[in-house]
Amino acid sequence: MTTSRPSVVVILAAGEGTRMKSRTPKVLHAVAGRSLLGHVIEAAATLEPQHLVVVIGHGREQVQEHIDEIAPWAVTVVQEQQNGTGHAVRVALSGLSERGISATGGPVVVLTGDTPLLTGRTLIGLLMEHASTGASATVLTARLAEPAGYGRIVRESDGGVARIVEHRDADDAVLRIDEINSGMYAFEPDELVTALGRLTTDNAQGEEYLTDVIALLRNDGRSVAASVCEEPAEILGVNDRVQLAEAAAIMRDRVNDGWMRAGVTMVDPSSVWLDVDVELAADVLIRPQVTLRGPTSVDSGATIGPGTTLISCEVGAEAEVIHTWAELAVIGERSSVGPYTYLRPGTVLGPSTKAGAYVEIKNSTLGEGAKVPHLSYVGDAEIGAGSNIGAATVTVNYDGIDKHRTVVGEHARIGSDTMLVAPVTIGDGAYTAAGSVITEDVPPGAMGVGRAQQRNVAGWVERRRPGSPAAEAAARARQDASHEPPSDRPHETA
Ligand code: UD1
Ligand code: MG
Repeated sequence: MTTSRPSVVVILAAGEGTRMKSRTPKVLHAVAGRSLLGHVIEAAATLEPQHLVVVIGHGREQVQEHIDEIAPWAVTVVQEQQNGTGHAVRVALSGLSERGISATGGPVVVLTGDTPLLTGRTLIGLLMEHASTGASATVLTARLAEPAGYGRIVRESDGGVARIVEHRDADDAVLRIDEINSGMYAFEPDELVTALGRLTTDNAQGEEYLTDVIALLRNDGRSVAASVCEEPAEILGVNDRVQLAEAAAIMRDRVNDGWMRAGVTMVDPSSVWLDVDVELAADVLIRPQVTLRGPTSVDSGATIGPGTTLISCEVGAEAEVIHTWAELAVIGERSSVGPYTYLRPGTVLGPSTKAGAYVEIKNSTLGEGAKVPHLSYVGDAEIGAGSNIGAATVTVNYDGIDKHRTVVGEHARIGSDTMLVAPVTIGDGAYTAAGSVITEDVPPGAMGVGRAQQRNVAGWVERRRPGSPAAEAAARARQDASHEPPSDRPHETA
């Protein structure tokens, strides 16, 4: 069975979305990292329509800007006043003809912009039904346990659709019907245009109802078919934040099921939230409470989580990322990150590197095998292959005005608690002494020492803290030592 390519897909997105109680237009709210409207455009694009037109109204500047970004090939038409779904389609088609585009050569498909779970497969089913029945219009319907609020499908005795009655305009007998109108349709273009011209506003809302096109076609002796959507969630419209969360949970399960079937292990899929642009290889292991956002990719054998959020990151094969928050970072293969690690934009960890507990890294590269194991800040730095950055090292990169770079060569060892005051360069194979403040370059192979000489003030505690537990412990140690044979330990300095 072949389906004809639609001449036009119209997406209705002019409504206000009052119940979202939001500054953001409803269709721009996101599910799995893609706007509600973006999901509908994605589904529509699978039909390869000759033209796609989005009807915009409320928040039009924001919606227009978003469409320019995600689907610049789409046409937008402004509906100044939201006088109903029929009016919106009429405005869309006349907007197209003003641009010299006429709807011919295929059906006109009408969708709404707030149904993020809609799939291309369901739309293809709608078009197949439309083509096989030769109907003038085909309505995408669903059977719902709780049909309240939706328009109801009144069937003919032969199974064809007689009309659609809005909930507000329905009597008790119609309210008992559990088959509802999804608000999505396929129409024969000429008949749609003619019927749209005959719509009235004689109904409970005083609007031009697109649903009335069905009865008008029937009165003209045309046939109207229905395509029943097998997965009612697909037509779930998001009207408030509760429905937004519902749609997000269904999308999460759908996305996760897809990845698990592709070879990804998820210990607790209900706590794993993946944006639609995420790419995972087979044999990735995802532990609980993981969020992967944007175009994040994870290569095979890598383990992510528990408790990790990666935004637009790239994780190499066999890497392990535990309790980490990272954005725009690259984590090389076989590297180990976390727990409690913060990788900021511009971090590039080479293969077999380590960024350990309580480590923050930004705009820095680590060469192969380099390690920052504990409690450090590395910013605007280049750390060479095989180098080790001791615990509590800080790149002092900011002088209050400008940021400066730190360069550490290969196989260098930065002692614990080193302050690397940038701009500064530590040569290949150089060391720094623990506790140093390094303000000058350290040549290759040298030991940089930048700290005061230690001095011990003998007997200070017994003199200045007499009677304290410390003083008593010191006195005992002094007596014990006086009974010991003389040792060759270095003498105290006063
Ligand atoms: C509509 C259908 C109803 C169906 C339901 C499915 C009509 C008269 N009723 O009702 O049978 O069960 O959808 O969700 O069509 N819009 C515009 N311009 C307008 C009016 C609406 O762009 O002037 C857009 C809205 O932004 C929304 C969509 O069209 O995306 C549907 O409009 P809405 O007012 O929500 O219609 P419902 O009352 O839900
Ligand atoms: Mg609605």
